[in-house]
Amino acid sequence: MPAHTDSLPAVRVQRDGAIALVTLHNPPVNALSTAVRQGLQQAFAELSHDADVHAIVIAGSGANFIAGADIREFGQPPQAPALPEVCNQIEACDKLVIAAIHGAALGGGLEIALSAHYRVAVDTAKVGLPEVALGLLPGAGGTQRAPRLIGAAAALDLMLSGRHASAKEALRLGLIDHIATSNDIAAEGVAYARSLLADGAPIRRTGEQTAALADRAAQQAAIDAARAEVAKKKGLFSPSKIVDCVQAALDQPFADGLATERDLFTQCLHSPQRAGLVHLFFAEREVTKSPETQSAQPRPLQKVGVIGGGTMGAGIAVSLLDAGLNVTMIERDDAALALGQSRVAKVYDGAVAKGRLTEEGKAAILTRFQGSTHYDALADADLVIEAVFEDMAVKKAVFAELDRVCRPGAVLATNTSYLDINEIAGSISRPQDVLGLHFFSPANIMKLLEIVVPAKVSADVVATGFALAKKLKKVPVRAGVCDGFIGNRILAVYRTAADHMMEDGASPFEIDAMVRAFGYPMGPYEMSDLAGGDIGWATRKRRAATRDPKARYVHIADRLCERGWFGQKTGQGWYVYEAGSRSGKPNPAVEPLIAEARAKAGVTPRPFTREELERRYVAAMVNEGARVVEEGIALRPLDVDVTLVHGYGFPRHKGGPMKYADLVGLPQILADIQSFAKEDPLFWQPAPLLVRLVQEGKNFDSLNHG
Ligand code: 3HC
Ligand code: NAI
Repeated sequence: MPAHTDSLPAVRVQRDGAIALVTLHNPPVNALSTAVRQGLQQAFAELSHDADVHAIVIAGSGANFIAGADIREFGQPPQAPALPEVCNQIEACDKLVIAAIHGAALGGGLEIALSAHYRVAVDTAKVGLPEVALGLLPGAGGTQRAPRLIGAAAALDLMLSGRHASAKEALRLGLIDHIATSNDIAAEGVAYARSLLADGAPIRRTGEQTAALADRAAQQAAIDAARAEVAKKKGLFSPSKIVDCVQAALDQPFADGLATERDLFTQCLHSPQRAGLVHLFFAEREVTKSPETQSAQPRPLQKVGVIGGGTMGAGIAVSLLDAGLNVTMIERDDAALALGQSRVAKVYDGAVAKGRLTEEGKAAILTRFQGSTHYDALADADLVIEAVFEDMAVKKAVFAELDRVCRPGAVLATNTSYLDINEIAGSISRPQDVLGLHFFSPANIMKLLEIVVPAKVSADVVATGFALAKKLKKVPVRAGVCDGFIGNRILAVYRTAADHMMEDGASPFEIDAMVRAFGYPMGPYEMSDLAGGDIGWATRKRRAATRDPKARYVHIADRLCERGWFGQKTGQGWYVYEAGSRSGKPNPAVEPLIAEARAKAGVTPRPFTREELERRYVAAMVNEGARVVEEGIALRPLDVDVTLVHGYGFPRHKGGPMKYADLVGLPQILADIQSFAKEDPLFWQPAPLLVRLVQEGKNFDSLNHG
């Protein structure tokens, strides 16, 4: 984290009689940077020797107590003092130490609080040990102190989920001792310290507590249950180490447990998963900033129109309603409108059935939802999102209507997956108001929102797209206009690589299994069955006219579609689905179609190792990712990473394809591409950016900064 720029010291000590108030000041979130750790160490060293001080209160300035270790320091040479040392020093202090918590006390922040002898929090505070989300474990005593305070089960729940607990829950668990009545946390901390002193409260070191672990059988049962749960989540490194640490808390003396934690924390710190997850932590925050959000203010957003009540239109409407916006849905006719409205209502019926929403809650939401078959109903809309058929003529007709009825300054957006948004914008009188807002299915659940920026759009319209994403709690990624934008364009290329491997001898089931073993929730053929094979088929037909006649084309998917085998919705595709089942078995009827295609193409099938399948699949993805960055379709490699993680199932712990390529090493990726190019030089042309980075000895991450 950049050093704070104001003149206040990172740690400030103020005296109030026998009570010393130690305030951390490291904007924006009081992360435990080197300066903060040094300041705390020095303050405690001095106060310990001050006979006039009877109690020390630790508090944070600004909006939070402490958000944890300074994540930017991970992977850098360590600077003394280490955080565990500071925590041990606080706990060992002979004065009464009180942590006074407001905002967030997370990770190392909560570990500082657990090292204090008492904890008070305002009722809006949030506490947690979210290190697992960064591929880590609480490494400053949290794995040893939390179980000693609240028992193994509750500590494991917090550490394995990484969730934030409210002050109320923390009080119930025994993680904090007292909830403050006012929000002036420093004053509350001092008052609490004064009352503890008045009561003669003893120094109570968490490392010496035994009560919560006394029932050893119950603790062991909780650890065993957690270990069994963790075993189901294959591929992640740190969760099993968290369980090991809690086992050490049960079995080992406190000091030995701390040493075990240190050892396992270091292993996590050096794992590629930590590198991938920390990269994403920052990438997810970077993508929310674009040149337009820096230079322009968003337009107002309250009333939104959605054109089309199909799969996407209905999902988008739900997402907007969930965010508290007023939504008007426009459909072609009364029947289509009724269907669209029922799709929306069904989502809320489901929420009521699951107990997540009351009937009254549902009714209240639906009062903000209107429908019409007349565009005039959109006259006062601030934003309209079009989600009609993927057909340029239909979209242009819709935009002509919008041009006619919408008020000046309304933002006119399209959810097109592939079509040229410049052409749509150019067909109306106000291209400056036209934006791409590419949602993913199901739109009320998927977090990604590609904000597609056509040539003539004004900056404040783009900024409005980002503001909408924030309202909808989506992850926005800025994309340029091209066929498929960032995500679908890259998907088309790695799916083609998969098809080539299938025709050359791999089965679609082997390819899916490899992709799952890599960490995706499903492979490309399972995905196609889920989304509907007809969607890809329509795209392939549309592209047929512009396809390079020299490029290799695999016909197998088309053969399935010609038979009406679109996947789950038709009962079969690459897999066969028993009535109502969403998990399929390999479709035996696919094998002869593949064999026929191979024979027609004159291919003698050969075996593929899983490693080769993976290398080709990833290399195709990375190569196209490099092109997308080089052409400016994505602002930086990190935008590609966030897109593929949030929209396409790329495993989060691998950091996204560009980060993964950096971790593998770009020279190896390039060498793979060059070797595959010997069979198919057209498909496997190395991206010039990749070649240049290898020549210069740089990685993709070098393009993420500045
Ligand atoms: N270290 C360094 N920078 C951090 C940080 C941290 N721990 N936490 C947040 N930041 C930065 C963000 O990158 C962002 O920077 P930017 O403005 O340049 O983009 C800025 O602080 C503000 O962060 P948010 O945008 O996330 O602010 P919010 O107000 O939305 O959320 C928060 C605040 C809930 C504290 C959230 O930032 C958060 O969850 N932070 C991370 C918490 C965490 O994971 N802590 C564990 C760290 S690992 C650890 O402690 C190891 C220990 O066990 C040894
Ligand atoms: P869909 O076929 O489920 O829904 C389209 C809806 O638009 C239908 O209800 C239809 O009645 C309505 N419609 C058609 N013409 C209309 C008009 N002139 N005025 C009002 N309504 C009209 O299609 P789907 O899947 O919802 O796709 C819509 C758009 O979203 C397409 O552009 C598609 O490419 C895009 N998209 C689709 C995704 C998906 O996974 N299905 C993902 C992301 C984008």
